[in-house]
Amino acid sequence: MTENEIQEFWQKHPCGDAQVGGLSGRHSTDYEKFFQRYDSFRYEEEKHILQCLDGINFNNKKVLEVGLGQGADSEQIIRRGAIWSGLDLTNESVHRTQTRLQLRRLPYDTVKQGNVLNIPFSDNNFDIVFSHGVLHHVPDIKQAQKEISRILKPNGELIIMVYSKWSLNYILSIGLIRRMGLFLLNTLGMDPGGIYSQHLANAHKLGIWQYLRMENFIHYNTDGPLNPYSKVYDIPEIKKDFPDFIIIKSYKRFMHAPPLPVRFLPLDRLLGWHLWVHLHPIKKI
Ligand SMILES: C[S@@+](CC[C@H](N)C(=O)[O-])C[C@H]1O[C@@H](n2cnc3c(N)ncnc32)[C@H](O)[C@@H]1O
Repeated sequence: MTENEIQEFWQKHPCGDAQVGGLSGRHSTDYEKFFQRYDSFRYEEEKHILQCLDGINFNNKKVLEVGLGQGADSEQIIRRGAIWSGLDLTNESVHRTQTRLQLRRLPYDTVKQGNVLNIPFSDNNFDIVFSHGVLHHVPDIKQAQKEISRILKPNGELIIMVYSKWSLNYILSIGLIRRMGLFLLNTLGMDPGGIYSQHLANAHKLGIWQYLRMENFIHYNTDGPLNPYSKVYDIPEIKKDFPDFIIIKSYKRFMHAPPLPVRFLPLDRLLGWHLWVHLHPIKKI
């Protein structure tokens, strides 16, 4: 896949848009209603995000958020006292985030459209780079982490959330149940419609066995069957992909393994889908 395909995907599918029915118009009242609907959904489904944000000291820190989606966490980070700037690949996310912050009269430094592979900010600039649910969608992760290290102050911190390999979602739901389900649908020639049609179309394009290989199947089972690229992480993989950093701490959250009803199982710290990692850049001072 190419950088253009990735940009086009996020431009057409702003993160979480479909789950709450999308924007109904472009007036400020449409945006306001949409943001309220989106935030209720997000922080009800993924309550842990607010708890994790509460555990981070953003107060008076210069923060760059990479990958903005609907700007929900941007608002939360600003409300926690950060001197916030944002960066996103798409003008849609940049526009939505700016609109949100202006509607809610929240102070911020700047929001730019750009790529984490070539960050449009100067060296040694930020105390914190925060990136939730983004870097596992960046194929050239080594270049991304190099850029993040460049713009962080020497004593700065990178805080990321990436998908977890040792999770119920990856091992059981994606690895077994969804693969078996698709294999059966394909073999029996059945198409129940919805996202299954897209999965079947993908499988026909790539060949069923190729499509079911985990290194392919993972891309299409995290953010919908049209998503061009996803990766799952464990700690050794983080160490490999972030050579300019050392890990300070990590923790897992979020019981999520659709279609299994696992949300209320108290296993998130062991088998959660969201792996949060705090890292320090290794820099010569
Ligand atoms: C899955 S969404 C996550 C958004 C938000 N942080 C959240 O948790 O809802 C990924 C976001 O990252 C952006 N993105 C993807 N690749 C990027 C890149 N290479 N550079 C900057 N932003 C990127 C997308 O445009 C999209 O807004």
